[in-house]
Amino acid sequence: MSFSSKPKKRISLAVMISGTGRTLKNLLGRIEAGTLAADIRLVIASTPQAKGLQYAEQANIPIQIVEQKDHDSRDTFSQAIFHHCDEADVDYVVLAGYIKLLAIPESYKNRVLNIHPSLIPAFAGKGYFGDYVHQAVLLYGAKVTGCTVHFVDNEYDHGPVILQKVVEVSETDTVSSLNDRVFEIERVAYPEAIQLLAEGKIRIEGRVVHVER
Ligand code: GRF
Repeated sequence: MSFSSKPKKRISLAVMISGTGRTLKNLLGRIEAGTLAADIRLVIASTPQAKGLQYAEQANIPIQIVEQKDHDSRDTFSQAIFHHCDEADVDYVVLAGYIKLLAIPESYKNRVLNIHPSLIPAFAGKGYFGDYVHQAVLLYGAKVTGCTVHFVDNEYDHGPVILQKVVEVSETDTVSSLNDRVFEIERVAYPEAIQLLAEGKIRIEGRVVHVER
């Protein structure tokens, strides 16, 4: 099976958050700077406590809060989320520090992206989020780590990899210093991947993503 992203002048996005929203803030900054041809039409949060909601409010972006506790199953929870995405008529859904596992409907296959703070498949999967990822890298003694932008399927941190960037781990690194350095490259990697989609430069065969440069 193969899939190609269609070139668009600007792509429309829903951004999903659970926490601080650094990723949302970065994407908004890139759009404002004119280096990312996208419009964020909707921000969906998994909790009303998500601090990142402040950035959506400041930018006047519509917000939806969809809490798992209000739904009986992963399926109905996910249906509620993708219903909002349909209503907002978005091209892609961008997970930005979003921590819930979703059931991706067929119509959103290869249309949901995530960024993970390690080189998948290392230090990825259930339980690997936030500082736990960097802590695991340090405890393992890995000499490199980094970030991965990938399409989302129905398993944690598993879908086709779009791009990865590498960070060297130094002997003096702490969880906090590694988190900072990995996030610095995430700030470049995520907009880069979204821009490639906007320009129609992504093709998927099986689970292998080919990027036309
Ligand atoms: C980043 O570590 C990213 O890799 C992961 O969530 C973190 C960003 O969350 N998916 P936030 O944008 O600071 O809320």
